[in-house]
Amino acid sequence: MPRRIVAGNWKMHKTAAQARAFFATFLPLAAKIPDRIEIVIAPPFTAIPCTHELLRDHPRVLLGAQNVHWELHGPFTGEVAAPMLREFDVRYAIVGHSERRMYFNETDRTVNLKVKTLLKHGITPIVAVGETSEERKSGETDRRVVSQTVAALDGLDATEVARVVLAYEPIWAIGTGANCEPPEADRVMGVIRNCVRGLEGVPILYGGSVKPENAASYATQPNINGGLVGGASLDPEGFAALIEAAGAHA
Ligand code: 13P
Repeated sequence: MPRRIVAGNWKMHKTAAQARAFFATFLPLAAKIPDRIEIVIAPPFTAIPCTHELLRDHPRVLLGAQNVHWELHGPFTGEVAAPMLREFDVRYAIVGHSERRMYFNETDRTVNLKVKTLLKHGITPIVAVGETSEERKSGETDRRVVSQTVAALDGLDATEVARVVLAYEPIWAIGTGANCEPPEADRVMGVIRNCVRGLEGVPILYGGSVKPENAASYATQPNINGGLVGGASLDPEGFAALIEAAGAHA
C-alpha cells in the first residue's frame, strides 16, 4: 500500500509572522494525530526559514516548497534552486500545479526537468495533473491526465518513478467548493496509476476543495492516498481536523 500524505499548499498566503502564529496552534494538534499519515506543509518561500526552525523539534510535520527551478544556479531572476531548498530540509516540492501551468508558463517539459532535478537532490516531487472543465465536458479527462503524467515521468527509471508523489487536481474543483465526487476522483486516479509502470506503490493525492467535512469520503477510496489541500490548510484547527478525518480511515 502506498503511504498516506496530507499536504497543505498555502499558495501566496501567510507572512513569516503569520506562519509562526499558525504553527503555535497547529503543532500541538499535529502531535496528537496518529503517524500513519504524513503531514506536509508548503508555505511561500519567505516563510520556509522560520518554518524550518519551528519544525526542528517537530519531526511529525515535514516541509514542502511550492516550486523549484530545474537548474542548480545561474541567471534566473526570481527563481529558487533545489540545493537552496535542501538547506532548509525541504522534503517535498510541488511541480506542475495548474496555477503555475496557467499563469507562469509551466509546461510538461519543464515539469519533467524539475522532477529529475528534485529526485537528484533528495527532494520528493509532488507532481500535479488535472483537466479543465472544458476538457471534462468534452470527454478529454483521462487523455489529459495520462499525457501530463507520462510527460512528467519521461526518462525516469522504475526506482525513480517509485520515489515520486502524484496529485490529481481537477482544475474546475480548485478553490471553487465544487469538489470532484470521490468515486469519480478515484476512477481517474486509477487511470493515472495504470498509465506508467512502477506507480503501484506511489501515493496519489486528491486536490480540489478538500475540507474537514469531505476528507473522510476521499480517504476511503482505494486509489486515493491522501490530499493536497489549499484553502482549508490555512486554518490550524480546521487543517488538523481535516488530517484527523483522513487519517481515521487510513
Ligand atoms: P483548494 O483546496 O483551495 O481547492 O486548492 C487545491 C489546490 O490547488 C492545492 O494545491
